[in-house]
Amino acid sequence: MVSKNTDHLMAGATCLLILILLSVIRIAHGADFNIKNFGAKADGKSDDSQAISTAWKAACVSTDPSTVLIPNGKYMVGSLTFQGPCKAPVSLQVQGNLLSPIDLNIFNSPNGWISFQNIDRLMVSGAGTFDGQGSLAWSQNNCSKTGTCNSMPINLAFTSITNSKIQDISSLNSKLFHMNILQCKNVTLQHIIIRAPQESLNTDGIHIGLSSGINVTGADIKTGDDCVSLGDGSQQINIEKVTCGPGHGISVGSLGKYHNEQPVRGVTVRNCTLTSTMFGVRVKTWPDSPSGVASHLLFEDIVMNNVSTPLLIDQEYCPYDHCKAEVPSRVKISNVSFKNIRGTSATKLAVKLTCSRRIPCKNVQMSDISLQYNGKDGPITSECKNVLKPSASGKLNPPACANYN
Ligand SMILES: *[C@@H]1O[C@H](CO)[C@@H](O)[C@H](O)[C@H]1NC(C)=O
Ligand SMILES: *[C@@H]1O[C@H](CO)[C@@H](O)[C@H](O)[C@H]1NC(C)=O
Ligand SMILES: *[C@@H]1O[C@H](CO)[C@@H](O)[C@H](O)[C@H]1NC(C)=O
Ligand SMILES: *[C@@H]1O[C@H](CO)[C@@H](O)[C@H](O)[C@H]1NC(C)=O
Ligand SMILES: *[C@@H]1O[C@H](CO)[C@@H](O)[C@H](O)[C@H]1NC(C)=O
Ligand SMILES: *[C@@H]1O[C@H](CO)[C@@H](O)[C@H](O)[C@H]1NC(C)=O
Repeated sequence: MVSKNTDHLMAGATCLLILILLSVIRIAHGADFNIKNFGAKADGKSDDSQAISTAWKAACVSTDPSTVLIPNGKYMVGSLTFQGPCKAPVSLQVQGNLLSPIDLNIFNSPNGWISFQNIDRLMVSGAGTFDGQGSLAWSQNNCSKTGTCNSMPINLAFTSITNSKIQDISSLNSKLFHMNILQCKNVTLQHIIIRAPQESLNTDGIHIGLSSGINVTGADIKTGDDCVSLGDGSQQINIEKVTCGPGHGISVGSLGKYHNEQPVRGVTVRNCTLTSTMFGVRVKTWPDSPSGVASHLLFEDIVMNNVSTPLLIDQEYCPYDHCKAEVPSRVKISNVSFKNIRGTSATKLAVKLTCSRRIPCKNVQMSDISLQYNGKDGPITSECKNVLKPSASGKLNPPACANYN
């Protein structure tokens, strides 16, 4: 009897222990929300946005860290917003391929196809893809005619996201910009893949604005416009190990189109490779602009392969001629360094610094620039306008501001 009771007790204790262990594991793993359990069809035709949205809402109100899983499969997804704030960190794991509707008329939100808003401690990861299916949109793109192109959706719009990480996902064939990082703080984008054809219109890779502490590292970008662009209010931004091309290069700007733009300050672009791009690294501001600031910009350890204009400051940026080109920009550019830039230029004018007649560029520094041009109309050269006492050090090919000497 005694021994049987002990057995029962032991069995009971073991059960309890297992239960406790299970619940600890459950808390450690948080809760999982597989969108298939919320009605996602994954047939590539039915709109699965409602299922994803419901799974997200369930995860977002969880007081434990949780994961929303989009498993392998094809999902047709209309406009979708991942809305915060959430009660605990949420991770979105994307293994499947999300397809955007081709028809432009279904997009009523000015934001994007997929939007993330007002979330702290978000993690987006997985080898999944977000396919904007943009080829019809590019053919209907009127940006060059009208000068604005707000009618097209961005693939992925991140707004007011803090202390977060986005990694490994791919964005394909966006109708407009691939990713827009707006009003975000302390966000790392790691190993992002972006693909759109060279001819696709306004398909910038990653655009950042009104944000600070953003780290883009290890991105691989092939697209039809800027690979990375930094709009006004970009502060403490690190862009590293990005490969870009085809595309228009890595840009600060364009700045000076609107009133009350916030300063761009503290940008480092380092250890990047640009291949067959239209520009390498550049700063662009509109003429006839309100006042603005871009300062403390460092471009370092950059390889240029067959880049049309490797280094460019363009304060007369005026695509499609929708501006008064003859009135100088009021954006003040200062403390810009180009260091250890090497490779090949596709044109002989490899370095072009066109600053504002009204506010010249100040403290521009160039060191260790080694670019080659193989065309018959060489040699390789540089040209500066309105650059105040540029400083040069190390070996420079082309020489800094060749036209000043
Ligand atoms: C572009 O312009 C054409 C002709 O004016 C119009 O039919 C089309 O809807 C416009 N595209 C967009 C995306 O607004
Ligand atoms: C930045 O975000 C990461 C999470 O991605 C977090 O671990 C880190 O503490 C945050 N840094 C600051 C200064 O808040
Ligand atoms: C950016 O993120 C990468 C990868 O996590 C890290 O190695 C690097 O130190 C970060 N850089 C900055 C400036 O935060
Ligand atoms: C980036 O850094 C790594 C490690 O320091 C180096 O091997 C590579 O050549 C660098 N690439 C460029 C483009 O500077
Ligand atoms: C150089 O870049 C241009 C695009 O600017 C491209 O058409 C051409 O094929 C590239 N040449 C090489 C040798 O890669
Ligand atoms: C700007 O650059 C100049 C020259 O390199 C340097 O003396 C100055 O301290 C810099 N300004 C700031 C605010 O760092």
